[in-house]
Amino acid sequence: MKKVRIGILVSGRGSNLQAIIDNIEKGVLSAEIAVVISDLADAYALERARNYNIPGVHISAKAYKSRRDEYDAHLVRELQNHEVELVCLAGFMRMITPTLIKAYPNRILNIHPALLPSFPGLHVQKAALEHGVKFSGCTVHFVDEGMDTGPIIIQAVVPVLDDDTEDSLSKRILLQEHKIYSRAIQLYAEDRLRLEGKRVAVSGYSVDSLDFLINP
Ligand code: GRF
Repeated sequence: MKKVRIGILVSGRGSNLQAIIDNIEKGVLSAEIAVVISDLADAYALERARNYNIPGVHISAKAYKSRRDEYDAHLVRELQNHEVELVCLAGFMRMITPTLIKAYPNRILNIHPALLPSFPGLHVQKAALEHGVKFSGCTVHFVDEGMDTGPIIIQAVVPVLDDDTEDSLSKRILLQEHKIYSRAIQLYAEDRLRLEGKRVAVSGYSVDSLDFLINP
């Protein structure tokens, strides 16, 4: 099967990057990581990339100050130089601009540690606990110009327990993130995602095939 060439944008520890690398190595994800790009020089994710001889690039935001679209134009050049087909945001802590979205229309994914459209933005596990929700989870979605508002591809649900802390809930969610991000990329690679307005239809999905999402 053809491997989709992905570019992964990161800012931090890169555990989602690691899960994608592991799933590629296990042969369950038909993808090739063409480049990992970080806005922070000391992101541990860049070291993970180096460990696997994956090109790692640091594009500092400092030179661009508030010119976010110029920063994104630089990102696009780098992604195109590496012949990236699909862009995956994995803990990339910058809002992207139309410059990037127009260069990769419906070809940018993001993972978010909550069940969107509830709890977009930052510190969402804390917000979920404060709100007293009984379930939380994570979402992989296409990126549009809003903050965590794009069409939803896949979600996983986890219970929220009475004695959860932000840390314990985050860890429970992260385990699911590591599964569903690769699932979403694989669905893209298999050309099984169809955008229908705000919805993403996933061909070949049945209740049975969703079991792992319902019983994480
Ligand atoms: C994850 O929780 C992801 O959902 C959010 O940022 C975090 C990144 O973690 N967007 P990591 O760098 O992949 O470990």
